[in-house]
Amino acid sequence: MVFCVFKFLKDGEILSYRIKDVMISEKEIKDRVKKLAVQIENDFNNEDIVMIVVLKGSFIFAADLIREMKGNIKIDFISVSSYGDETETTGKVRLLKDLDANITDQNVLVVEDIIDSGLTLHFLRGHLKAHKPKQIKICTLLDKPERRKVDLRVDYVGFVIPDEFIVGYGIDYAQKYRNLPHISTVEEG
Ligand code: IMP
Ligand code: MG
Repeated sequence: MVFCVFKFLKDGEILSYRIKDVMISEKEIKDRVKKLAVQIENDFNNEDIVMIVVLKGSFIFAADLIREMKGNIKIDFISVSSYGDETETTGKVRLLKDLDANITDQNVLVVEDIIDSGLTLHFLRGHLKAHKPKQIKICTLLDKPERRKVDLRVDYVGFVIPDEFIVGYGIDYAQKYRNLPHISTVEEG
């Protein structure tokens, strides 16, 4: 399958990136999301949950996950930025949109698209902890453990993937490719 090619200017140099191989298919994602939902429900003992979706990349994963879960689930969104339009983290995490919900004494499930250096979730865990929730559990669709820069406990991982830049299923490169139904690698050139 060949997808679109795009070019942009970086430090005066024209780079182009294109979608490479399918790393995780639509069917594999669907099956894994169902299993994660069962595991989460069992762990939370069917108690009420506040699901906190880390925008923007997690919106598709969260939408699929919540529909596989029963029980009382409130939803809220938080937005942070660390990448700009680069493929490497800048190391600085900025809060772009804070919570609306009150999470004090609540069971919190943070839903993330992908964990790379771990800096985003390290920052978010500290930020959420200040509200004194009953517990915080972290669920990520993808994990690149090779790239970790900080120690982070992750409770639910959909897929452990190698150190490659990926897009699709909500995850972007420079705001593109979120609409791919599967996870694909991207290559330069
Ligand atoms: P971390 O703070 O380095 O763990 O990065 C987490 C965030 O970086 C994720 O929520 C994504 O938005 C973004 N990210 C990390 N790896 C990738 C990737 O391979 N493709 C697209 N975005 C990524
Ligand atoms: Mg993210």
